[in-house]
Amino acid sequence: MNEKEVIDAENRLMANVFGKRQIVITKGKAATLWDINGKEYVDCMSSYGVALLGHCHPKVVAAIKEQADQLISCHASLYNDKRSEFLQKLTAITPKGLDKAFLSNSGAESVECAIKLARKYTGRPEILAMMGAFHGKTMGALSATWDKKYREPFLPLVPEFKHVPPDNLEKVKEAISEKTAAVLLEPIRGEGGIRVPPDGYLPGLRQVCTEKNVLLIFDEVQTSFGRTGKLFGCQNWGVTPDVMTLAKPFAGGLPIGITVAKENIMSAFKVGEHSTTFSGGPLVCAAGCAAIDALIGEKLTEKAASTGKYLKTCLEALQDKHMIIKEVRGLGLMLGLELRFDVYNIVQKCAQNGVLILDAGRNVLRFLPPLVITKKQIDKAIAVLDAALEEEENARANPSRTPTN
Ligand SMILES: Cc1ncc(COP(=O)(O)O)c(C=O)c1O
Repeated sequence: MNEKEVIDAENRLMANVFGKRQIVITKGKAATLWDINGKEYVDCMSSYGVALLGHCHPKVVAAIKEQADQLISCHASLYNDKRSEFLQKLTAITPKGLDKAFLSNSGAESVECAIKLARKYTGRPEILAMMGAFHGKTMGALSATWDKKYREPFLPLVPEFKHVPPDNLEKVKEAISEKTAAVLLEPIRGEGGIRVPPDGYLPGLRQVCTEKNVLLIFDEVQTSFGRTGKLFGCQNWGVTPDVMTLAKPFAGGLPIGITVAKENIMSAFKVGEHSTTFSGGPLVCAAGCAAIDALIGEKLTEKAASTGKYLKTCLEALQDKHMIIKEVRGLGLMLGLELRFDVYNIVQKCAQNGVLILDAGRNVLRFLPPLVITKKQIDKAIAVLDAALEEEENARANPSRTPTN
């Protein structure tokens, strides 16, 4: 198939729910992607935070090939060696005490599980989530997600979800009632614009939840696996939640969702109360074992911290140069660049020039590159971004050439 045939077929046959870029990607290696015409891209989006090890990591590829010859599916009503191995590797790295897991297939599913678990364990219905939060788009996860453009077409959502202002302990304290089962939040809001909480907030929240006997659930779907320069985002503040949701990179690129909890909390689920057919399939778990081995063995968390510092410094240098940049923020390789206007043109221009960057809301460019991105690739991305910002700045200074949005 050529480029046009691929695009036409997807447009015709796939639900029209993704804001598509007109690029057909066919190959990837580490932090480089190639399109169907052989054009090369620096990947600063890692499939929305999946490809943290880089694309087609050799250890993951080898593990998938080997396991594919052995066994691909095995329902969790039977035991399996790879599932057992993966659970051991996983709980060896999760924060102390979070050592009982439910395996599923996506971030939203890991949140669904956490919501059900909180209700079952506490016997209470209400979940407090944050204004600006993103937790996925299935009905339960969507009820915790904030943005009305995702919510409103699907009302009514699941009852007993309440949103409070983020980074404000007093508002959480006021909102907690005898109905509250849990407080659910992302340690750093990703989709909400890469918002890092003030230093005392998460420790304070931990204390409030403990005092009020309410579960603290961290959605670490985007902030885990070394992304922020720590294995888990919450470790930047030394805070351990009662329940944690994980997904995206944990199976080296194959679909996975994970809900981990303290043993006594996860034990609130009785046989049959929660399940999914693909829970901990052998192929996914083999890939997951290789992914965790690569993350730890190649010290990618430490790499994310140092490469992230380098990228942040480069972005701050751009801020000094371009008035249209309002703020640079984030931790490790989870960085945001807030502009004073819509980032759409910049995202498009960078893609045309071989650099793939995400947005996070209207005004924020989001950098979620694979942890293996090189300094040379960062330099290229920065040069392309610099030129795009300059062009946009000039266009806006000269209204006759103002871009359309
Ligand atoms: C923090 C957070 N939670 C949940 C989700 C939903 O994950 P998925 O798209 O795999 O359902 C996402 C996806 O971006 C996310 O960033």
